[in-house]
Amino acid sequence: MSEKVAIFDTTLRDGEQSPGASLNIHEKVEIARQLEKLNLDVIEAGFPVSSSVQFEAVERVAGEVSGTIASLARAVEKDVKVAYDAVKGAERFRIHTFLGTSDVHLKGKFSDNRYGMSLKEKRETILKMGCDAVAYAKTFTDDVEFSPEDAGRTDTTFLCEIIEAAITAGATTVNIPDTTGYTMPDEFGRKIAQLKKRVPNIDDAVISAHCHDDLGLAVANSLSAVMNGARQVECTINGIGERAGNASLEEIVMALKVRRDFWDFHTDIRTEEIFNTSVMVSSFTGMIVQPNKAIVGENAFAHESGIHQDGVLKLKETYEIMTPESVGVPDSKIVLGRHSGRHGLQARLKQLGYSTTKENLDHIYEDFLILADKKKEVFDDDLRVLMGDEVSKQDEPYNLEYLNVMLGTSAIPTATVRLKTNDKIVEESATGDGPVDACFNAIDRALETKSHIESYQVRSITSGRQAQGEVLVRVRKGDLSFVGKGFSTDIIEASAIAYLRALGEQYVMTEKREFLEMAATP
Ligand code: KIV
Ligand code: ZN
Repeated sequence: MSEKVAIFDTTLRDGEQSPGASLNIHEKVEIARQLEKLNLDVIEAGFPVSSSVQFEAVERVAGEVSGTIASLARAVEKDVKVAYDAVKGAERFRIHTFLGTSDVHLKGKFSDNRYGMSLKEKRETILKMGCDAVAYAKTFTDDVEFSPEDAGRTDTTFLCEIIEAAITAGATTVNIPDTTGYTMPDEFGRKIAQLKKRVPNIDDAVISAHCHDDLGLAVANSLSAVMNGARQVECTINGIGERAGNASLEEIVMALKVRRDFWDFHTDIRTEEIFNTSVMVSSFTGMIVQPNKAIVGENAFAHESGIHQDGVLKLKETYEIMTPESVGVPDSKIVLGRHSGRHGLQARLKQLGYSTTKENLDHIYEDFLILADKKKEVFDDDLRVLMGDEVSKQDEPYNLEYLNVMLGTSAIPTATVRLKTNDKIVEESATGDGPVDACFNAIDRALETKSHIESYQVRSITSGRQAQGEVLVRVRKGDLSFVGKGFSTDIIEASAIAYLRALGEQYVMTEKREFLEMAATP
């Protein structure tokens, strides 16, 4: 009889911690709605104490998306309370509390003598902190998850002790994170087996695996954990996450599904929603999926060599172990154009996973017609850009009303911009080394600012001459950086929009919203 493995998605929390991925609240909610379609067991929506934006995002996801929503908290009272306040509106919710348990963490994060002088004393202190946090979380909900951070490098005997104590304190899920992606599959599997064997109350909680991909082993380690008793896996769409990322959801789920003969485990995931979710996450985060990525990469179902093509034509299974349809890869590309109607557009958007309302459809259709005028053929990728743009541009403090750039082989590039900011219209011109530099200088003048541009990237979204360009601009202020994305068939315009959005994000985060104070430890 096949056993279920619960899938805990942390794209909106650990995934969003990926260098370069930064999502605004509207983008998070849109992704959460798509995650809901996957039929996940748990969606971790964020780490509310880390900023008021994170708090608001968890609150919105909890209020608008059904299922179990998890909210992350360090093992301190204030975090747990804030995690609860953010998530309490959910249909069902989980509080997930964590603290470092490896000797490296004890010597680093907990080096202060108030945690104890010796390693032994420090272990006693953090065991109590973890249990207190679990017990406190338990006053808000029965569904409490405890994570001993860096469990992969934690002494197994101490890991057994703290897991036993956390379960006694009320943890219903005990998550074993390989935080630094250090372990080998066999080693990680043995760690889970040891917990099963040595923790007397282990059957009162679900064991979970949370693996990072620093050595490219996150999926293998997660599957090894399942083999040895884990019944929840934590993962992200496209494997995004801290540093090299987390275990990829699509790989875990499809490995369990395709090789059910081998594992005899199942998940409740609607695998046909995988592809749309992957594309949405990639487009909102700006993190491109490598073409040869398993399951969702552009080449995952492409057969290049003659021998392979011939084999597949004769019998698909010759070189295909799963069908593209099983993960929602469309078998044909539908092309829309300026004569396509509102209903046709709405239906296609729905197939791509986007929800429209009567109110925003009018607006989207107008933008679609402008795009269809510029490009003769509008592909799925164009529609995704259009929808991504609709979501990204909500609540923007700065808007580009007008842009004019003059350039030529012997002229100094000069840009003029007209911006709408807080109901004020400002217009400025400036020169620069090139057209993009001139635009940025004109914007700086208009907003009376000077920003440090950390990175600037351009890529084309669709192919051909009229392809839409996507520009990603990252600006830095102090130790924080802010990302803006812009799309247009004109990359100078896309650059101006992206820069304005990055500055808008900086404004919203630093001027309008107060950061909740993060304690230095734990
Ligand atoms: O990698 C990690 O240890 C984490 C914990 C917060 C679960 O993300
Ligand atoms: Zn993690």
